[in-house]
Amino acid sequence: MNTLAEELNSIIENENQYVYEMLSEMGKQLFFPKGILSQSAEAKQKADKINATIGIAKQDGKVMNIPSTAACIKGIDPDNYLSYAPSFGVLNLRKKWKTLLYEKNSDLESKKVSLPVVTSGITHGISTFADLWVNPGDKIIMPDMIWGNYRMTFCVRNRAEIVNYNIFNSSLSGFNIDSFEKTVRKEAELAEKIIVVLNFPHNPSGYAPTVEEGQKIASILINIAKNGTNVVAACDDAYFGLFFEDDTMKESMFSLLAGADERLVAVKLDGATKEDFAWGLRVGFITYGLAARKGVENLYDALEKKTAGCIRGNISNASHLSQSIVLHSMEDKDYSKNKKEKFDLLMERAHTIKDVLKSVKYKDAWDVYPFNSGYFMCLRIKEVNAEILRIHLLENYGTGLISVGDTDLRVAFSCLEQNDIKTLFDTILKGINDLKKK
Ligand SMILES: Cc1ncc(COP(=O)(O)O)c(C=O)c1O
Repeated sequence: MNTLAEELNSIIENENQYVYEMLSEMGKQLFFPKGILSQSAEAKQKADKINATIGIAKQDGKVMNIPSTAACIKGIDPDNYLSYAPSFGVLNLRKKWKTLLYEKNSDLESKKVSLPVVTSGITHGISTFADLWVNPGDKIIMPDMIWGNYRMTFCVRNRAEIVNYNIFNSSLSGFNIDSFEKTVRKEAELAEKIIVVLNFPHNPSGYAPTVEEGQKIASILINIAKNGTNVVAACDDAYFGLFFEDDTMKESMFSLLAGADERLVAVKLDGATKEDFAWGLRVGFITYGLAARKGVENLYDALEKKTAGCIRGNISNASHLSQSIVLHSMEDKDYSKNKKEKFDLLMERAHTIKDVLKSVKYKDAWDVYPFNSGYFMCLRIKEVNAEILRIHLLENYGTGLISVGDTDLRVAFSCLEQNDIKTLFDTILKGINDLKKK
């Protein structure tokens, strides 16, 4: 093992032995290299005459550029997007995201979280999380309805297995706490470490827990940790903030779990992608919330280095241009106001859907899964196959939806104009009636 990895491991073990135990084999091997990057960082501070360290080209003290490239970007200096960003991410962006994490999650107030490390979108954050904490053969606990890409990351790439609980109770009135609790407790009996993915607002259902449900989920996991099982909890907060009902929990599960027990590693995976409507920019973040005997600073420093080392060995660093754009946007005086306007639009669509779906004419055609947040809602189709219906709607009505399994249809209301909402559900009903006649 590399001596830098050994040094980081001994810091982690010294601060919190359980965190060290929870790292994957790859996580234990990871370190942040002292090669070109750290030597050029040193040179940046001290080499005031000649700096010939890093693999970029310079001219007249500025980053070299082809004018037709630089002409595409107005308002950002080429030094702030053509040069490399650090593997950890742009420092001011990391600090800004951290400040906003505290503003968006009041329950974090008394807790210390790490400085977020920048990833190239949230998928890359999930994959980096998996590299650090998941071994081949590990079980990942998640609901029976999931974002399908988890299978690619956790199962195909990291060779883990998924264990499901039922997300909703049988009356479809809320989160199935019993199923969640039984599943995590069973896995805790079988292994020394459990790994849970909490994705709220949820893809595909558009559900986020009520305050009471959120507290129960947290207390079950904290209780398992207190009883001697190591718990790794990844909070996939891709759709964070888009909470549309009064009784929906407005905090991330991460706020409830961070620092709750030494045996609990809480990891927040989030980003500008959905929250800030910047899908193609690929800016995500990984943030840790831990407890340690002496203080979490050294632990966070070591884990940030392992995380950045993982990024260095994979994509090296996330787009500097994207990071500069996201930072620029967050520092704009109208950022919060503009974001709120987009939030209001999405909330209005969610509420209109709820009104439209009250109509009794849809009663025999589908059940509506609970939804209160995010971009999506799902229907459980009663009498026809969801995939056959999807194809029928596409070919005969020019209407595109996503089928999930035999029964579920996912509607991305984030893409629906207000005027199209009623038409969409009437079209789905027509499609079902067509198929029933066949
Ligand atoms: C639950 C969930 N997590 C993560 C992502 C991926 O986000 P990104 O585009 O930033 O990789 C998505 C995107 O659809 C998602 O639905």
